[in-house]
Amino acid sequence: MALPQAWRGRLSLPAIAAPMFLISTPDLVVECCRAGVIGAFPALNQRTTAGFEAWLEEIETRLKGRPAAPHAVNLVVHRSNARLSADLEVAVRRRVPLVVTSLGIEAEVVAAVQEAGGLVFHDVTSRRFAERAIAAGVDGLIAVAHGAGGHAGALNPFALLAELRGIFDGPIALGGAISTGAQVAAACLAGADLAYIGTRFIPAPESSALPGHRDMILAGQAEDVALSPAVSGVPANFLRASLAAAGIDPDAGEPPAERNFGTTGNLKPWRDIWAAGQGVGAIRAAAPAAEICAELARDHRRALAAAEARLADLRPA
Ligand SMILES: Cc1cc2nc3c(=O)[nH]c(=O)nc-3n(C[C@H](O)[C@H](O)[C@H](O)COP(=O)(O)O)c2cc1C
Repeated sequence: MALPQAWRGRLSLPAIAAPMFLISTPDLVVECCRAGVIGAFPALNQRTTAGFEAWLEEIETRLKGRPAAPHAVNLVVHRSNARLSADLEVAVRRRVPLVVTSLGIEAEVVAAVQEAGGLVFHDVTSRRFAERAIAAGVDGLIAVAHGAGGHAGALNPFALLAELRGIFDGPIALGGAISTGAQVAAACLAGADLAYIGTRFIPAPESSALPGHRDMILAGQAEDVALSPAVSGVPANFLRASLAAAGIDPDAGEPPAERNFGTTGNLKPWRDIWAAGQGVGAIRAAAPAAEICAELARDHRRALAAAEARLADLRPA
């Protein structure tokens, strides 16, 4: 286990409730943290830096003085994000325990967070991106594998984890279609320290997902998810029916002329075209976040106990 020292004894499950654009709310973050799962939200879920700071303040106040997992903020490190330096200043000043960087990495961003005592985990989809993140001094990697909701990698999770483990011995979170506690256990047995779980939390009442998005996830199967570059320019997993409803062929969507991950222009697509990972088939009920976390933690413990029992079926090596 390579969980950061400061987190030991604070988690009920080795997992991060992943940040989701237009979905994660302070309620979702607070409920996950109280339940012992790291809660995260993208800074861009608020329309202004002042709004972002107000959310952080609310989360800090509601978590203060109670046993809770650390909270996390996602910063998009790409030139289309005009708010990066202002949002970074807020995250540093408020000493956010974990900053998740995505869609770009800069050593200055990493250093600024670390100087304030925070940790930086960076989203990667390949060994090449991981090498860049390690060179920039990140504390942890988030391996975003094939089948993840939103921007997803092309690599099988076992292959990606093994390659990253070969070059990095710090904490690695594995993301992509993880919907159950047994899958969290499997991720950790395969070399991850944490699971990174997004789609599983979309139907929770604390998320700000639209009703149609929730319903499509509860009714969906893996085949209902398609990888399309049409929204931001980078391949991302969306629910097929929502792409089709927006006039985009789920199997042949064209990327826009310019990549855009920021606040301009692309708000509507992520609101009307619904991201989800291939793990939708295992999500059948819209439980509150605390119940989801408790169920995942129970299932995780059971799976670990069962894994030990399987040894009895094998002949001695
Ligand atoms: C609706 C949705 C919105 C997302 N928005 C963001 C985002 O703003 N920033 C980010 O770094 N990742 C974003 N992601 C990716 C998640 O943080 C995470 O990598 C992914 O959900 C993990 O895969 P899973 O959904 O299969 O569990 C988003 C994912 C979804 C499903």
